[in-house]
Formats: sequence, C-alpha cells, structure tokens
Amino acid sequence: MSNFKLFNFSEIGDERGSLVALESLKNIPIDIERVYYIYGTSMKQERGFHAHKELRQIAICVNGSLDILMDDGNTKETITLDTPSKGLLIDRMQWHVMKNFSPSCVLLVLADDEYRESDYIRDYEHFANEVNNA
Ligand code: TYD
Repeated sequence: MSNFKLFNFSEIGDERGSLVALESLKNIPIDIERVYYIYGTSMKQERGFHAHKELRQIAICVNGSLDILMDDGNTKETITLDTPSKGLLIDRMQWHVMKNFSPSCVLLVLADDEYRESDYIRDYEHFANEVNNA
C-alpha cells in the first residue's frame, strides 16, 4: 500500500484516438487555479527538491516518461509516470524530485493556487523538521 496517490483517469477512446478530461473537484481532488508544464529537460537533469506548505498539485506525464521520487518525511517511493492516463497527487508537505526524464517528456502539472515562492520549502532539513514536529 503506497502513501502516495496515483489516479488512473478514464480514457475516452475510439478509432480516432484517446481523450482524458479532468474537472476540478470531480475526478481530481483539487480546484485548478494554475497549469504549467515542464519539457526539454535533459536526461541527466533533476528538478524539484522542494515541498510546498499548502499547494496541492497533480502531475501528469502527457508524453514520454520520468520518475518522481516522493517523500512525505516518513516514506520514500519512486513513482514512474509513463502514460497520459495516470496522474500523481503531489500533496502539501511532500518533498519531490523529478528525474530520468525521457527526451520527449512533457510533464503537465495542475496546481490549486497561483505561484508563490513563499509556499516553497527548499531545504530538506527544514522540511524534515516541519513534518516531524507537525
Ligand atoms: P521550480 O518550481 O523551482 O521548478 P522545479 O520544481 O521544476 O525545479 O520553478 C523554476 C522557476 O520557474 C522558478 O524561478 C520559479 C518559476 N516558476 C514560475 O514563475 N511560475 C510557476 O508556476 C512555476 C511552477 C515556476
């Protein structure tokens, strides 16, 4: 049993191809306020290395693949995203590192708030202390 939440989205498919539709607070547990995507990342590049105090996000690899190392301060797990029909909840106070990007990787991220640098925890020791004192 994983501590991290992976969604299998319903695919609407026919001979023309596949379609996934996501609606705030219906088939995803967040109210989408912002969308961003990461692409053109070299295989050796690692990104993330932070947790958010309040922000909740859903990461969807809409093309290619990558690994996301998830860490809630107690459990660590590496989750591979390699299909547009799966979404990983990156919940508040979950340290995450994105790596092993395939050259074609496009990582779409749905977020429930606007960008705020003040919501980031970028120091792992600070994160671990916050989690353990919660
Ligand atoms: P960051 O969240 O640190 O990227 P990653 O976690 O993928 O390593 O963001 C990289 C830069 O982009 C940083 O300068 C902040 C900026 N940024 C925005 O301006 N708006 C956004 O919505 C996001 C996610 C980042």
